[in-house]
Amino acid sequence: MDEKIAVVGLGNAGLPLAAVIADSGIEVTGVDINSERCDLINRGINPLKEEPGLDELIGKYGGRSFKATADIKNASSCNTFIVIVPLFIDRDYNPDFMILESAIKGIGSVLKPGDLVVLETTVPPGTTDNLARAWLEETSGMEASQFSLAYSPERIMTGYSISRFREFPKIVGGTDEESGKKAFAVYSRFVKSLNMVSSARVAEFIKVVEGCYRDANIALANELFKISDNLGIDFYEAREYANHQYCHIHLPSTGVGGHCIPVYPWFLIKEMERREKFDDARLLRTSRELNDEMIEFCAEKIMLNCLKIDKPLKDIAICISGLSYRRGVKEIHHSRNLALARLLVEKGLKVYAWDELLGKTGVENLGLRYLEPEKADLAFDTSGLKFGSSSKFAGKEKMSKTSEGPVCRC
Ligand SMILES: NC(=O)c1ccc[n+]([C@@H]2O[C@H](COP(=O)([O-])OP(=O)(O)OC[C@H]3O[C@@H](n4cnc5c(N)ncnc54)[C@H](O)[C@@H]3O)[C@@H](O)[C@H]2O)c1
Repeated sequence: MDEKIAVVGLGNAGLPLAAVIADSGIEVTGVDINSERCDLINRGINPLKEEPGLDELIGKYGGRSFKATADIKNASSCNTFIVIVPLFIDRDYNPDFMILESAIKGIGSVLKPGDLVVLETTVPPGTTDNLARAWLEETSGMEASQFSLAYSPERIMTGYSISRFREFPKIVGGTDEESGKKAFAVYSRFVKSLNMVSSARVAEFIKVVEGCYRDANIALANELFKISDNLGIDFYEAREYANHQYCHIHLPSTGVGGHCIPVYPWFLIKEMERREKFDDARLLRTSRELNDEMIEFCAEKIMLNCLKIDKPLKDIAICISGLSYRRGVKEIHHSRNLALARLLVEKGLKVYAWDELLGKTGVENLGLRYLEPEKADLAFDTSGLKFGSSSKFAGKEKMSKTSEGPVCRC
């Protein structure tokens, strides 16, 4: 039988995935509740302009071997269903499964015996085995033994999706041996470097711990930065020579933004809380808190630097330069620079912001005033946390040597 794959969720991660699958010669049906996005894709127009390489693939396959639809029923002839919708956390940091549940139940409504369902959404370990299986059984009317179910973590990074899909090793794990093998066989058709792990639960855990690793390491860099600042030691000089084969200290930052890294540690922290194993996720919780609190440290430093400017505090024009959570990505989810700007506004300071991707309208839509950094009395440049004696913060010289990316990371 010819493989036909449905990709449910055509967002930043799902759309490049669907395009890469189409590029391997497989027929793809993309399903997304955003019908405008579906129309664009079907006309060969790429809705994610910032994603290098995607224009070409959507232009080539959109509306042809890659059709998009808002109605899951149009995907009923597919035999593999890949789910890649978001999973958010609520105010208490508990996972909110609403979107995932609706997407998986939709799949259940068209699922046939022998079909394969693969979750790619980042989830707390155990979600595929427990929740997804139950939702599919409920809406398909089948028993789990009649369909295959697996998990494969999405390991792309917005802005590098196509190249990451092609170069980065991918992982699959089934809810049973058969499902794992089946998922491996299907994914082998469009993924070059593929590893199978023993279960869906292990595959889920792999993705979550990658985020935890990044968060804890960024927290360590932030803490060391504060300590070096206290001791009067140039952090960047020390870091340059401290880093070697066995030591890789990250860059300090205003914190960690985006949909991913600030969210995933909570999956494990909350699960340990549920099991009353509070101490078992202490480092993860502390890292989260430390990273989120960096804006307070930065705000204090900015205010101290304002005192060096010969103007009343309320008249000093401060510009936060760069609001998106990561350079080159037009997204502000959990942006720590945005949180910093808002914190300074709350403190009654004269705050402006600038962002090359959002532009004036985008900045103003976030309720901030727009100003180019050069016109400000004090510009907080996100390319480097460096609180020197000058009224400008940009540590560009140092950062060009150590530069490994943006400050507000995901
Ligand atoms: N973006 C990344 O860089 C990245 C990297 C690794 C992993 N991920 C993971 O990928 C998943 C999706 O993230 P994203 O960045 O693509 O999110 P996104 O917000 O960019 O896109 C989500 C898409 O899902 C659609 N959608 C919502 N509910 C739906 C439903 N019921 N049926 C069909 N479509 C629906 C939305 O309309 C939207 O187009 C998340 O779990 C995230 O953790 C993302």
